[in-house]
Amino acid sequence: MQDNCGRTIRYLRLSVTDLCNYRCRYCMPEAGVEKRAHRDILSVEECVEIGRAAVNCGVKKIRLTGGEPLVRRGILDICRGLSAIEGLEELCMTTNGSLLPQLAAVLKEAGVSRLNVSLDTLYPDRFSSITRCGCLADVLAGLEAAERARFTHLKCNVVLIGGLNDDEIGDFVALTEHHPWEIRFIELMPMGQCADWEQHCFLPAEEVLRRVPALRPCESSGTAARYRVPGWRGTVGLIEPMSHRFCSRCDRIRVTADGKLKPCLHSDAELSLRGLHGAELENAIRRGIAQKPEQHHLTDGGSDTSRNMNEIGG
Ligand code: 5AD
Ligand code: SF4
Repeated sequence: MQDNCGRTIRYLRLSVTDLCNYRCRYCMPEAGVEKRAHRDILSVEECVEIGRAAVNCGVKKIRLTGGEPLVRRGILDICRGLSAIEGLEELCMTTNGSLLPQLAAVLKEAGVSRLNVSLDTLYPDRFSSITRCGCLADVLAGLEAAERARFTHLKCNVVLIGGLNDDEIGDFVALTEHHPWEIRFIELMPMGQCADWEQHCFLPAEEVLRRVPALRPCESSGTAARYRVPGWRGTVGLIEPMSHRFCSRCDRIRVTADGKLKPCLHSDAELSLRGLHGAELENAIRRGIAQKPEQHHLTDGGSDTSRNMNEIGG
């Protein structure tokens, strides 16, 4: 279905938990977040019901996000339920990768078609510092497990942070020589935990092109501008919510783990979907799509959402 600005909405990002086993500095408070009562979080059945209603409204692709979706109890049942929906073309997941060594193969069996893995540094000590409690070796083993489970088109999300990991741009791009992965550099967005970080932390993703002149443009995909080093197996994506607003191409809506439809990541507008079924649920989703704001105000005043990223799922 189209929103009021003529954008066709075909992509739902569904957050299945706001909990995470990591505490990335830009995303989560150090002490973590309080575990919500079970009844405050969408049940497995509600997740699948919302997915089905969204597909009836024209959604073709669903991405499971968190927090960390793999710490959610029942995640495999959610995957099985969603992947069985007729008319859904892709079921994807964004994960920190730490639990993929155990779960990659079963996720594939449960119908997940693609994975995005967050990976902000290739140095073990730096990794532990950014994530506050993560272990790089787990994530690298997770990527290997995903390949063994025959996940193709693997994407690695690298949030670019000036002074923290920008010295690794070349190393990340070098991964695409032998791996058929897409390395996606994401501009850090000033919201939640990092809303008041110093200016030098916020680097334009174009810095990647400046540092690696061998990159050449290739066909773009969704919100990412794509490049590759000619002859190399993988690609490089730049996601530039700060430097180049891609709002006019935005084709997505979001649902939080507590069942609120968010027409835009950066808007405070939310519509509760809980307790709604059938036509009522579909109508609420249609109302939310119609209300999608034309653009965000990140560069002129900041994000309008009061939520932390772990609640929305990126
Ligand atoms: N800016 C940009 N990306 C972010 N993510 C989390 N917080 C931010 C932020 N402030 C990313 C994570 C992950 C995805 C879920 O969102 O690194 O790749
Ligand atoms: Fe967890 Fe991802 Fe947030 Fe890091 S960025 S704390 S891995 S949800």
